[in-house]
Amino acid sequence: MASPSSSKTIVLITGANSGVGYAIAKVLVSTSPKYHVIMGSRNRENGRKAQETLEQELEQASTSNPNPTSSLLKGTLSTVTLDVTDQASVDAAVRHVTDTFGRLDVLVNNAGVYVPGKEDGIPNSSSSSSSSSSLTQQLEQTLPTNVIGVARVTESFNPLLIPSESESEPKPEPRLQSPYLLHITSSLGSLALAEDLTYSVRATAYRASKAALNMLAVQDAKVLAAHGVKVFAVCPGLVRSNLRGKDEQSRSAGGAAQDPEVSGQLILDIVEGKRDSHVGKFVYKDGVRPW
Ligand SMILES: NC(=O)c1ccc[n+]([C@@H]2O[C@H](COP(=O)([O-])OP(=O)(O)OC[C@H]3O[C@@H](n4cnc5c(N)ncnc54)[C@H](OP(=O)(O)O)[C@@H]3O)[C@@H](O)[C@H]2O)c1
Repeated sequence: MASPSSSKTIVLITGANSGVGYAIAKVLVSTSPKYHVIMGSRNRENGRKAQETLEQELEQASTSNPNPTSSLLKGTLSTVTLDVTDQASVDAAVRHVTDTFGRLDVLVNNAGVYVPGKEDGIPNSSSSSSSSSSLTQQLEQTLPTNVIGVARVTESFNPLLIPSESESEPKPEPRLQSPYLLHITSSLGSLALAEDLTYSVRATAYRASKAALNMLAVQDAKVLAAHGVKVFAVCPGLVRSNLRGKDEQSRSAGGAAQDPEVSGQLILDIVEGKRDSHVGKFVYKDGVRPW
């Protein structure tokens, strides 16, 4: 183990090279030196570039601050290559985190995809014109990342997240805080909200994937509570990202999307214990969603 980093809260975010994941990393490392954020990226080069961009962004913001007292980059960052659909990639990431940090304090299952369909009602560069994916194809392309990928990453990293209870194993250094497992879901995954017939977004494959993910969260919360792990299903809100496509109209959801730092702030509140009264629930910025 290169560095036990007992004075740090070690956070791994999957899919942190853009959108919500990048913003979570940004908010955490600009809040406190206690955070070490491992930015997961399925593409090594994109991960490296994202870390570099984030460090530059915060350094530049520090120098343009009229009252520069200290750097806005307070925490530390690193990257790991991690494709949630590839067990060998996840295993290699587990080895990296084990060898480098020896434990994990916060796992954010953020990586996700939206595969557009013609009738989805989500502003997207391809859904209105070229996409002709059938529902079956959309499900086949969505579930491996949004559901199986989350289950794979959670199962693989659980031994690093769960505090050791074995008398025979050497006691790890005490953690700063209880471990958190966060599944980034969507309000579109709520079965209760989906009953509202006036709600025009169809996105059936995406919604089914997030409903399934919500069930994983309910089950994980029950099992992991006994080990002191706090589990949340988290809707990050409608925020700017590449999820719906890379052109401006899609990124901003036709102008309706908020800055993803709103999502980063929500995750910060959760890992700082401010939402602990909602452990095991489906939370969003302003409260709790019905499952
Ligand atoms: N933006 C919103 O309004 C909104 C609302 C509700 C929920 N969400 C959820 O928020 C999460 C983040 O999405 P986002 O909006 O930030 O979109 P995004 O900018 O497209 O980010 C998605 C991230 O997931 C990564 N990813 C995709 N497949 C992967 C795989 N197989 N292995 C590892 N990483 C993979 C992407 O990597 P690449 O860059 O390589 O593609 C990217 O880094 C998703 O779970 C999404 O469902 C977003």
